[in-house]
Amino acid sequence: MPETANLQLGEKKFDLPVVVGSENEHAIDISKLRDQTGYITLDEGYGNTGSCQSSITFIDGDRGILRYRGVPIEDLAEQSSFIETAHLLIWGQLPSSEQLDSFSRHLTHHQFLREQLRQHFEVFPPGSPPMAVLSAVLNSLACFYPELLDTEDEELFEEAAARLISKVRTIAAYSYKHDMGHYLVYPHPEKDFCENFLHMMFSEPYRDYEPDPALVRALDVLLLLHADHEQNCSTSTVRMVGSSGANLFASVAAGVSALWGRLHGGANVAVVSMLESILEQGISVKDYVQQVKDKEAGIRLMGFGHRVYRNFDPRAKIIKKQAEAVLAKIQRDDPLLGLAEELEGAALADDYFKERSLYPNVDFYSGVILRALGIPTSMFTVMFAMGRMPGWIAQWYEDRFVTRGRIHRPRQVYTGPTEVCYVPLSHR
Ligand code: ACO
Repeated sequence: MPETANLQLGEKKFDLPVVVGSENEHAIDISKLRDQTGYITLDEGYGNTGSCQSSITFIDGDRGILRYRGVPIEDLAEQSSFIETAHLLIWGQLPSSEQLDSFSRHLTHHQFLREQLRQHFEVFPPGSPPMAVLSAVLNSLACFYPELLDTEDEELFEEAAARLISKVRTIAAYSYKHDMGHYLVYPHPEKDFCENFLHMMFSEPYRDYEPDPALVRALDVLLLLHADHEQNCSTSTVRMVGSSGANLFASVAAGVSALWGRLHGGANVAVVSMLESILEQGISVKDYVQQVKDKEAGIRLMGFGHRVYRNFDPRAKIIKKQAEAVLAKIQRDDPLLGLAEELEGAALADDYFKERSLYPNVDFYSGVILRALGIPTSMFTVMFAMGRMPGWIAQWYEDRFVTRGRIHRPRQVYTGPTEVCYVPLSHR
């Protein structure tokens, strides 16, 4: 492979350095391109643009590989936990037992919300979108911890990170309970991360919720699978906001907003809505697939396709198994799972999907698990945000303290009018 790329613009030739990653990915370094040539590159949607060098997560979309800090996602899903994986992502290594204990204690210590912060929930009208509530409350953490806002002080990072990973779960559960008009349940210091979340969601004043360990494990795996995914839309947002010097709370709150959209974190909601509407309307799988292929009214098969994975999404394989295990445990025959399987089979056998390399992504089955756990559809994207929190934090830290990136400031190719004279109001 050449060490430089050659660019010819008219008569002039330029050498551009080639950067090679540890997994042999090749990138043409254009950071000096504009200075040298006066040109910029144009890559709408950034499909061919590396925005940073990162040592956190590796994805090979063609081979269906996902690794956090080098560890395959399959091994983590089999043997690790969400909290251990969060440590791996943020600090770059799997923790020793002492480190894991200390990290878990730290999280437990920070799981409560200040009483004033609890009152924030009162101001949101019933039916408020939980992602709006989550983003707003996360942002307001900055008001409660002003001592953690100095983004130049690396020592403060650990405190802010622990607060976020722990409190996001409390905020998520409170937003649900408040919306339901239910009594808010305090986190329990003896319960582990996922059990505690389910406790805050489903315990009642006179009855503690005792989930089946298989369900707790399924939730843990689901969060772990969502923990990072390199430079996706929300993570790039977190890094971009952080690059201006904004604090960690503000940066992840922006990530929540980016995740909200139906083409990103909102896709698992869209999958369930799609399955429900197929069932309600009594459309056959064959007819629905045909409607998708005809691109009628822009219908897409939600939960299919991925910008990066072009053969299969490794997370989808793992989560499908978890969905089956959970349903077997609760012995509920969910018609949505049957329909999802039927749709998957029909699409995978169809040339339209084969030619475009469209395979089920993680969202195709995550909604089924969340439904089985009793999580309402309106909370699905919030669950994704809880899972993604360690990744956002790790990526923010890397940009601020490891690579010490510049402020992110893309350019554009302007296509508007050239200079136009101002016409006074009286002449218009
Ligand atoms: N159903 C039907 N057709 C599709 C789908 C789909 N789910 N996804 C892509 N296509 C088609 C497009 O219409 C296009 O067809 P064309 O070549 O005839 O014009 C072709 O496949 C390429 O599609 P793009 O939109 O260029 O693919 P892109 O990489 O930009 O989009 C995306 C990826 C947004 C995920 C897309 O596949 C999609 O909309 N999927 C459904 C939403 C979804 O599940 N999102 C979750 C992503 S995973 C995550 O965020 C955790």
